[in-house]
Parts: sequence; C-alpha cells; structure tokens
Amino acid sequence: MTQQSYTMIKPDAFANKDKIISMIEKAGYTIIKSKEMQMTPEFAGKFYAEHDGKPFFKGLVEFMTSGPVFAMVIEKENCILDFREFIGNTNPAKAKPGSIRNLFGGEMPQNAIHASDSPESANREISFIFN
Ligand code: CMP
Repeated sequence: MTQQSYTMIKPDAFANKDKIISMIEKAGYTIIKSKEMQMTPEFAGKFYAEHDGKPFFKGLVEFMTSGPVFAMVIEKENCILDFREFIGNTNPAKAKPGSIRNLFGGEMPQNAIHASDSPESANREISFIFN
C-alpha cells in the first residue's frame, strides 16, 4: 500500500541537502512536498513534545534551532518502516555503513535526518509542518 511519511534534514546535514535528496530519490521515494524552514524554540519544542522532560530535550531544541531544516513529505509502498531502515539507526554511531545517518550524522542529537516512526506520527507531523 502506498504510504506517506514525514522526513526532515536537520541543521547538521543541511549543507549536504542535495546529496541526501538524491539518495532518497534514487532509493525509490517520491518527494510530494518540501520546504526549507528555520525552527523557533517554541516550534521545535512542540514538534518534539513527546520528548519534553527527557534529559536530552533542551539540547535537542538547541540543535534543531541552530540552523535551517529541510522538511519533506515522501511517498512509497511501506514508506514509514522502509525509510527508517534506509536512513540507519537513530544513533549515527550504530547506523549501517553508507546510510544517511552513517554518512552525514555526528554525535547525538546530531543525527542528520528525522523520520516518522508510525502512521499516527506521520499524520501528526505532516499536518504540523505543512498545514
Ligand atoms: P529523531 O529520532 O529524529 O527524534 C528525536 C530526536 O531526539 C532524535 O532523532 C535525536 O536527534 C534526539 N535524541 C534521541 N535520543 C537521544 C539521546 N539519548 N541523546 C541525545 N539526543 C537524543
């Protein structure tokens, strides 16, 4: 079944945006919508509301507001799970060789790219960013 997911190139990987987009398209994902954004602390805090209260929350918001991000809605069969597998482990140190997070990520929270983890998250994130 064709499915949509939300993905976002994070500030640490923004300079490599064109290379990352090309990898995503070559892997068979269609980019349906996209936009460049500069997140404010309030906006980033709301986007990552589920992590509010965790030890890394403050650092995550600082990182996500440290530069521009590139937001995308992507589409493919089994998009949500396949894309998470494709970009590599959340922690770049554990991401498979050649994956986006392995190639462009650094030390957590700097992991190059975000991807929705469920259909519910994808719906919420797509409407939060694009509506
Ligand atoms: P992502 O999975 O896109 O969304 C939540 C983000 O929080 C995650 O990427 C990392 O950028 C960050 N994050 C998650 N866990 C940790 C952690 N243990 N330490 C630092 N940052 C984290």
